[in-house]
Amino acid sequence: MKKENLHVTIAGGGSTYTPGITQAVLNNLDRFPMTKLTLYDIDEERNEDMLLIIDYMLKTTGHDDIELNATLNPKEAFTGCDFVFSQIRVGGMEMREKDEKIPLKYGLVGQETCGVGGFSYGLRSIKGLLGVVGFVQEYAPDAWILNYTNPETLIAESIRRAYPKAKMINACDMTISIEETMARNFGYDRKNWICQYYGLNHFGWYTEIYDKELERDVMPELIEKLKKKPMKIASFNKGDQSWQDAWNKLSKILNLFPDYLPNNYLEYYFFPDIVVEETDPNYTRANMVMDGRLKHTKDMANEIRNNEDGNILDFDFGEHGQYIVDMATSILNDSHDRFMLILPNHGAIPNLRDDAAVEIPAYVGRKGAEPISMRHNIPDFHKGLMEAQNAAEKLLVDGYFEGSYQKVLQAFTLNQTVPSADKAKLALDDLIIANKNYWPELH
Ligand code: G6P
Ligand code: MN
Repeated sequence: MKKENLHVTIAGGGSTYTPGITQAVLNNLDRFPMTKLTLYDIDEERNEDMLLIIDYMLKTTGHDDIELNATLNPKEAFTGCDFVFSQIRVGGMEMREKDEKIPLKYGLVGQETCGVGGFSYGLRSIKGLLGVVGFVQEYAPDAWILNYTNPETLIAESIRRAYPKAKMINACDMTISIEETMARNFGYDRKNWICQYYGLNHFGWYTEIYDKELERDVMPELIEKLKKKPMKIASFNKGDQSWQDAWNKLSKILNLFPDYLPNNYLEYYFFPDIVVEETDPNYTRANMVMDGRLKHTKDMANEIRNNEDGNILDFDFGEHGQYIVDMATSILNDSHDRFMLILPNHGAIPNLRDDAAVEIPAYVGRKGAEPISMRHNIPDFHKGLMEAQNAAEKLLVDGYFEGSYQKVLQAFTLNQTVPSADKAKLALDDLIIANKNYWPELH
């Protein structure tokens, strides 16, 4: 494997996450010597905006020796590349808005990755990711794909079926974000933590947070603190009330089930009714992101276009870019650092089916992910929730590959946020129309 002159291609280059990822790479060039960066997207306008922003970043930080290009052509994008960072969003924010608003019409949770909105996104996203992985197999079969395209469990499950040998790692930043926010709130250093965690993506629990410096499991004390008072948003989510709401719900979950520390996304499964009640059906998260992050990125591109002075680049994505670079470096140097990844279970959780796509800790090295076995069974409460949700996810992926309306309807009905088959069908039928340019045909 090449260890110098690395060529990175970002699939979904126009994404608002690209500056944070690029900045993280630039901060780590000694360990991850990238000399070429390609932005690949199907949205020309956003990719060109991002080209301006990244070009500006490279120039103003003294990195203009790095070759930069943007392309809509997959052959050009992937040929010769060593790493693909994949963060595509099929259908963009416009379709996210529909995923969120259509279920809400029927009193169902409308969310990007959870509930039937997440399933709707899944049916678009699977096709997009299969496309990216197919291109990489064709043009750069030795490249590693680090994927954080949502909904991650559905992606991991689909790629496992279609490209079982793909050199791909699926990772989500949510556990890191929870850990970082807890550490900052309560005065710990996340770098000292060894975490035990299991679940499906956006659907899991910590069982231990061992602090190497303090030489003890700090999870019980974190739980006690969180039960008393929700944590405050960290700087990387500053001013974002919906993250504060998420942390408030995390504390609410802990007051009901104080044994393990949950992923905040479980709020959608435990409190679907409350979440629906509290959501404005006319202004959902997609609208907030469009009016916030998306607009901000567009403004930055325009300021560069107009040669404005001052500090044009302004973003804080916390640890988001850093963990991707850490994973890539761990592959490159075969250093076996530990990450939470989405992988086929294969016995890691002994009392859960082998072929479930689960989120668990794994070591990452030159040969990819080596999952860490739990070595103990998980409690029935979590097992029951996970089995039902996992079956729903499997049915959805079956529905995708078989073009089966019946399987997709079963998946929607079994989704743990859905209380009624009638509502599942109403939402599904609307989503079929909304997604006619994206979903496979269902019969
Ligand atoms: C976290 C999750 C991602 C998700 C994002 C949503 O980072 O891990 O999977 O996409 O939050 O953030 P947004 O600001 O787009 O609602
Ligand atoms: Mn995620």
